[in-house]
Amino acid sequence: MKRPTLSGLLLLLLTYASAQTPVAVGPVSSVSVDNQTVRVSTSNARAEISAYGPGIIRVRVVPGNTLGPYFSYAVTGTPETTRVKVTSSGADVRIVTDSLQVCVSKQPFAVTFLTPSGDTINTDEPGLGTSWIGSDITTYKHLQEGERFVGLGEKTGDLDRRGSGYTNWNRDVYGYQVTEDPLYSSIPFYIGIHHALTYGIFFDNSYETRFNFGASNNRFSSFGARGGEMSYYFIYHTGVPGILRDYTYLTGRMPLPPLWSLGYQQNRYSYFPDTEVIRIAQTLREKRIPSDGVTLDILYMDAYKLFTWNKERFPDPAGMIHRLHDLRFHLTTIVDPGIKVEKGYAAYESGLSSGVFLRYPDGTNYTAKVWPGWCHFPDFTSSKGRSWWSSQIKGLSDQGIEGIWNDMNEISTWGQQVPDNVLYDFDGHPTTTLQGHNVYALEMVRSSYDGASASGKRPFILTRSGFAGLQRYSAIWTGDNRSEENHFFTGVRMLASLGLSGVAFTGMDVGGFTGNPTPNLFARWMETGAFIPYYRNHTALNTRSSEPWTYGEDVLDISRNYVGLRYRLLPYLYSTFYTASQDGVPVLRSLAIDWPFDGQVYSPAYENQYLFGPSLLVAPVGADAAFASVYLPSGRWYSLYTDSVLSGSFVTPLALDRLPVYVRGGAIIPMQSLVQSTSEAPSDTLWIHVYNGPAPGAFTYYEDDGATFAYRNGAFYKREIRFDPAARTITLDAPEGSLASKFRYMQLVLHGFGGLQQIIADGTALVARDTTYAILPPTARVNAQADDAPPAPEFCRVKVVTIGNDHRQIKLGY
Ligand code: NOJ
Repeated sequence: MKRPTLSGLLLLLLTYASAQTPVAVGPVSSVSVDNQTVRVSTSNARAEISAYGPGIIRVRVVPGNTLGPYFSYAVTGTPETTRVKVTSSGADVRIVTDSLQVCVSKQPFAVTFLTPSGDTINTDEPGLGTSWIGSDITTYKHLQEGERFVGLGEKTGDLDRRGSGYTNWNRDVYGYQVTEDPLYSSIPFYIGIHHALTYGIFFDNSYETRFNFGASNNRFSSFGARGGEMSYYFIYHTGVPGILRDYTYLTGRMPLPPLWSLGYQQNRYSYFPDTEVIRIAQTLREKRIPSDGVTLDILYMDAYKLFTWNKERFPDPAGMIHRLHDLRFHLTTIVDPGIKVEKGYAAYESGLSSGVFLRYPDGTNYTAKVWPGWCHFPDFTSSKGRSWWSSQIKGLSDQGIEGIWNDMNEISTWGQQVPDNVLYDFDGHPTTTLQGHNVYALEMVRSSYDGASASGKRPFILTRSGFAGLQRYSAIWTGDNRSEENHFFTGVRMLASLGLSGVAFTGMDVGGFTGNPTPNLFARWMETGAFIPYYRNHTALNTRSSEPWTYGEDVLDISRNYVGLRYRLLPYLYSTFYTASQDGVPVLRSLAIDWPFDGQVYSPAYENQYLFGPSLLVAPVGADAAFASVYLPSGRWYSLYTDSVLSGSFVTPLALDRLPVYVRGGAIIPMQSLVQSTSEAPSDTLWIHVYNGPAPGAFTYYEDDGATFAYRNGAFYKREIRFDPAARTITLDAPEGSLASKFRYMQLVLHGFGGLQQIIADGTALVARDTTYAILPPTARVNAQADDAPPAPEFCRVKVVTIGNDHRQIKLGY
């Protein structure tokens, strides 16, 4: 063996030392401008600042002297042609768009984002900026006075993340703690809020990333990664909805899901045999719990082998699916990525011969243990792997399975350690687990979506793991929560946080996955679930069964009432899904979206409250609480049940059968008659509830066939509905789209219009009837203080008037 020379040893030492010492970008030595892009060379790096739109700037910093091509799984949006003015002086380069200014300081390189009038939105922390230690790269941002941070996807903790730090590395965390981090998915996007300014930062890096929002430091917020380049998108907008629109312009928006997936779904780990599945569906119908879906967990398969059926438990899958369809149920089945290594097993043999599995550097397939035993795993980061998987999924759709539930896709294996040296194709940019791990599930749901939509019907895709952009293909749920009250509250905040991170279609295991909830907690969860985008009840293997009838008649009544309310709200909900698919503003909305500067929204007492769609404020409450503190942000609000007008903060007494829900003044809420499934036609009248208030209201009403992609070719019915309190008018714009509405009549239900005398619809005087309206039938007041007296009826006093679909301009005389 050759002995190392002294100079060799010195070089080794120097390399080691430099790998341990932070290296900063350094002073700018040259600047070049290419349309909307400014390129900068410094002593230690190359940087590129590009305008993707007037309010979207991408910053790339790459150590060394080569700025290679950009590759991203998350970003599908391309740069919009944007007016950009670039000026360079000795001290800095200024890039000015119609919405913001970027100042790139030269000595040393540092980036500051300013409003057009020169207020600082966000700036690199002086002295720290962007630097790297070996391959680990971080950008440090100056912590602004009073700065708050929201978002970052599926993260536990408070709504305001100030003072906390987080890691992104997708993990299977069975029965996680309410402080656990990281969980199953990674969305390296957050929104900063300070001094009446709001901005977003998306760090487009799939290595393990870390965020520090002033966690035990009073100087900076930072984001960094174990490898890859520093590439982030800065988004400035005067409001959070604008930031979400721009963020989802970059990473994509939810395609419209099938209508049935908005209905109630009954799950458990694991319904079998087929007779049990049918019994569950039939019991839901008999007990008049509106519902649309049942889900099969892993025990439907033969020895957990993907794309097989356990022949004893499910001798006739086609017959079962047919029977479910007769009962108006849609079937979702679970799929895991692990393909059992077993000679003769079709999926294994075909995957093997197609060469689709992840490999080690020596060319052998990566093998790990999960439910079926030893498995190989498709490389979803290769087009070959994705199309192989899509064709397998198509096989499931061809059998009539309409929902694909992607589980264990972190990748989860027993031992939870995918070795670093497993190779990923990364679509022609070969890499390892270090970079491929966090996007594995994103690319899995991409291929599940492609396979399941080949039938021409919109599929329902659900995932446990994912990365930024997952909303393009899939809904997500928050994994293996516990049947505990703090999980219920944490879950609600996680869904709000996912909504703040571009994911509109979200859910959690209603009732909790591990353990057994108390009847009261189950009731509260079922009520709140009615106001959660993906409404599914699920529980683990060794727990009490968790159907709505498990916890007694009172809880069954409560569940029926709230599931029914959800179904009556479907026109509102489906329209809200439609707008979310257009502008990225989620269905479940943190109050930080509309009231980012209202400090109360972040207080521990109120941080669990959220909006369901634009107008319903939901205040989740504890299982056994007798009173709740509620905060209603600026404006006039109504109790959903009584129409009493409320504002600000107050304490409200609680009854187990009434979840505190409030309606915003100015709200326009279309509702329909009660149906038992989304495939049952409602009555011919659409009720349009309008709530009086000082602020104008608007709502985009939307219908389509709820099942196919025909809406993309104009087969929809859409109209804007506006309420103008100053002009005292309700305006219904001309409908757009080639479909006729499924409703023949509209009935305006006017709340808070006590003094209303007269209604003139396009010149014709109509009579508005005074009537009472009960949003929920009374149920036994389970924890009412009192006696055996029947519950007092809760009614709203409203004015109603029926109008035709052709009416446009309603004048309210009061
Ligand atoms: C883990 C999932 O999180 C859970 O929902 C499912 O029931 C089990 N895997 C079994 O498939």
